Amino acid sequence: MDPLDARTRVFATFDPESLGTPGILTPLQERSEVDIWDGEGPPPAAELRKRASGADGLLCLLTDRIDASLIEGCPRLRVISSMSVGVDHIDLVAAGRRGILVGNTPGVLVETTADLTLALMLAAARRIPEADRFVREGRWTPERPWAPDMLLGVDLHGATLGLVGLGAIGQAVARRALGFGMRVVGWTRSGRPVPGVDSVSLEQLLQEADFVSVHVALTNETQGLLGPDEIAAMKPGAILVNTARGGIVDEPALAAALTSGHLKAAALDVFASEPLQADSPLLATPNLVLAPHVGSASVRTRQRMARLAVDNLAAGLDGRPLVHSVG
Ligand code: DGY
Repeated sequence: MDPLDARTRVFATFDPESLGTPGILTPLQERSEVDIWDGEGPPPAAELRKRASGADGLLCLLTDRIDASLIEGCPRLRVISSMSVGVDHIDLVAAGRRGILVGNTPGVLVETTADLTLALMLAAARRIPEADRFVREGRWTPERPWAPDMLLGVDLHGATLGLVGLGAIGQAVARRALGFGMRVVGWTRSGRPVPGVDSVSLEQLLQEADFVSVHVALTNETQGLLGPDEIAAMKPGAILVNTARGGIVDEPALAAALTSGHLKAAALDVFASEPLQADSPLLATPNLVLAPHVGSASVRTRQRMARLAVDNLAAGLDGRPLVHSVG
């Protein structure tokens, strides 16, 4: 027998050790042949298909489309481990049909993502990117060094925050918002009570919240959850923040609400299609703060995510339960 066939094979679409974590692949490399994509960005679909086709394990990112046809083309595949909490890039039904285990990395990114949510709320409410441009572009002049009406924003303290989704990240955002002196209301399908958060219907949340922040996973049920009707139902002058997934918020409806002035501002870290196209109308939308999907982007958190993704894969290939599995 070819000795390669006796060992498990892994295809990794990124190098987890590139995050300043040398040696985290060693336990996997001791058991498996690990083939690592080292090209710029994610592997093109054809390359992914080719390199994954003989793999028992796949270590991937949210930018890799693991659809039914890819899964079909990988007859040996037993474990898919994604360095992400979201798994909307993986066809879970197709994986389940084949008995393929799917691992993800929840937990370790909760606080970091909640931090970015608050940062975006503050950036939108206090117009921080606009203030930065104002200074850099030389518009802060000796004739107008300070003015009572210069770059006025809105306060977080005393405002109502509506959390759409009260999972771990929603709850971490709630804790921060309470510390900022906000009233926090929240909607979740399960109706599960969360300390300090008033449980309300989605309708009531949209009517009452000065800030709405999205914290549900993208699924068939949540796709377009905040559509034109829901955005129209938001309180006039409210601010919308999305650090979850782009497909949950209807982007044209949001752009229209910002342009008409129905909403005061918004901040988006995630988009229906990423990266945002150069001709996206969102780029010309007023009062919109944009970030390139960096919710979990702190050194420590990304290192933890990488380690957890590797541990998930090693466990699955060994026949042990995954540290975090989906479904
Ligand atoms: C995830 O993990 O799903 C986030 O979107 C990126 O950290």
